[in-house]
Amino acid sequence: MSPTPTTVDTEPLPFEEFRNASDAELNARIEAVRRELGSSLLILGHHYQQDEVIRFADLRGDSLKLSQLAAESRDCRSIVFCGVHFMAETADVLSRDDVSVYLPDMSAGCSMADMADLDAVEAAWSDLSELIDVEDVTPVTYINSTADLKAFCGRHGGIVCTSSNARKVLEWAFARRKRALFFPDQHLGRNTARTMGVPLDQMPVWDPRRELGGNSPHQIENSRVILWRGHCSVHQMFKPAHVAQFRERDPNVKILVHPECSMEVVEAADLVGSTEYILKTIEQAPAGSSWAVGTELHLVNRLAKEHPDKTIQFLSPMVCMCATMYRIDLPHLAWCLENLARGTPVNRVQVPDETKRWARESLRRMLELK
Ligand code: 13P
Ligand code: SF4
Repeated sequence: MSPTPTTVDTEPLPFEEFRNASDAELNARIEAVRRELGSSLLILGHHYQQDEVIRFADLRGDSLKLSQLAAESRDCRSIVFCGVHFMAETADVLSRDDVSVYLPDMSAGCSMADMADLDAVEAAWSDLSELIDVEDVTPVTYINSTADLKAFCGRHGGIVCTSSNARKVLEWAFARRKRALFFPDQHLGRNTARTMGVPLDQMPVWDPRRELGGNSPHQIENSRVILWRGHCSVHQMFKPAHVAQFRERDPNVKILVHPECSMEVVEAADLVGSTEYILKTIEQAPAGSSWAVGTELHLVNRLAKEHPDKTIQFLSPMVCMCATMYRIDLPHLAWCLENLARGTPVNRVQVPDETKRWARESLRRMLELK
């Protein structure tokens, strides 16, 4: 099954065969490829992946940790990313040039990342330049964005942030320039700037479908952080009323949420942080403690299963799962891996060179922050 010249020209294995296979068979086939490819293959997995898939990840983490792991990877020639498209793109930008990155299902996107595109951000930048000096604005993109937006930030003296370093990034930005344009997640931007004392009236929201983003010239001139009108459809489901219900039922419960939740939820919570922070907080919590967690369902369910000595509940009565993360399943993983081993790779994520060059710049600025 190794990628020898005799197999390079064969047709990719059809996906249908994998869809009809049992989980036991798929598990065995995935293990066989991992044994065969050894250290030349690195499987990275985001914490939101379903249990069936994440168990095959060599390394797991939040977006920051996974970016660092891709940048530091030494032995591997291929990274198979069990996560969503922007994560695989970031791995392609940061990994060595002789490493190829694959996403088992190309339809695993991120609805928040889709809320800002390069044309709209460039149009906003041009509109802003009519009113204020954009040399004094740092564009900051949340890592949940396409590579060309990271490249935009690279070209304009900007930077990338993740949910675990957004404050450090905004401090970096304010040390250099007066204002920041933060996209695509308004909530992460607002929640972070709030902890730094930026008042709400200096954080106008930019709606790309409206003239001047739906703002008056005064609002823009008065701004410190201009927030893009984007959000995560999963985290917007958590409401302050859910926090209140949990507290009423159990006065000792601790509320732990992701910073993609709304400001009202974040301010009502006890602790806020990235998926890695959430995982570590629960791991370190004392036995008998009680938690309501506001982040994606698969991660919360896994934490509850792994820590039966603690009470871990999901913060919303509604099912809030990331449907795109869930697209990475055993059939897609097995299909992707077997094609890779056979020399007929499928679903390579390849960022064009010029975009890569500038996206690397904005990611480098982030990764160098201490
Ligand atoms: P983390 O970087 O905290 O893992 O967040 C990624 C994400 O997409 C959360 O919705
Ligand atoms: Fe994107 Fe939200 Fe899914 Fe995270 S949970 S990958 S922000 S859609």
